[in-house]
Amino acid sequence: MTTKTALITGTSRPVGLGFAIARQLAELDYHVILTARDLARAEPLAAQLRKEGHRATALRLDLTDAVSMQEAAGHLARTDGHLDALINNACAPVDFTVMSALDADLDAVRSALEVDVLGPWRLVQVLLPMLKAAPAARIVNVSSISAQQIATGLDLGASLRAPAHSFAKHSLDVLTTVLARALKDTPILVNAVDPGETATHPERGDEGEARPADESARGVIWAATLDEDGPTGELFSS
Ligand SMILES: NC(=O)c1ccc[n+]([C@@H]2O[C@H](COP(=O)([O-])OP(=O)(O)OC[C@H]3O[C@@H](n4cnc5c(N)ncnc54)[C@H](OP(=O)(O)O)[C@@H]3O)[C@@H](O)[C@H]2O)c1
Repeated sequence: MTTKTALITGTSRPVGLGFAIARQLAELDYHVILTARDLARAEPLAAQLRKEGHRATALRLDLTDAVSMQEAAGHLARTDGHLDALINNACAPVDFTVMSALDADLDAVRSALEVDVLGPWRLVQVLLPMLKAAPAARIVNVSSISAQQIATGLDLGASLRAPAHSFAKHSLDVLTTVLARALKDTPILVNAVDPGETATHPERGDEGEARPADESARGVIWAATLDEDGPTGELFSS
């Protein structure tokens, strides 16, 4: 049987959600490709999974650099030849201290749109031949409850908390629907998952009720391993 392959973006930190997702997919016998814009940060994490007996590879992939995406796709075409799961996990730094759209730093908004929306969009385009070469690929866009302030009017006590991050994640949710429609005649399913508040930044010291990353990763794994009759174009909270 051919090994399933998964590519995860934004796997640069041992406490990050990306690494927890990579480990859980590796435990399901996927060959996991850990990507980061700085290869030197993804490689030790891939080495750790290999040491635990898993198949793991590190690749450089910067979501603002189309060439790095083409290079990752080229590597995949020469090696595995297919991609069963694409996990768009990376995100730009969160402007969590900004409490109103009126105070948004529009350069931060532009950067968030590039990393959180245009990057995943381009990555799907670039990896499409590899996704189509798998029997039933899954695309999971890691969203955030912040996006729901816009979609549902959810009140987080501000006009738009973390405006760059929230606007970009809302756009990622919209992209999820658009891509699912575009791929409706294929076996590929595309969904967005809000992993919930997760303890991925202990250095900030304000993680309160946040869950460990391995718990939050479970909803992403569920969406990455959906059966053929699973949903597509939807947003889930885990
Ligand atoms: N933690 C939470 O409470 C929470 C809640 C809801 C949703 N989420 C979502 O879950 C995902 C992971 O969260 P996390 O807390 O684990 O975040 P994180 O570790 O801070 O992850 C951000 C990742 O994105 C990478 N990145 C930034 N710019 C990039 C670029 N241009 N190209 C490629 N990668 C880039 C970062 O790499 P560098 O290290 O190189 O900067 C880092 O690996 C994010 O999408 C986040 O929005 C998290």
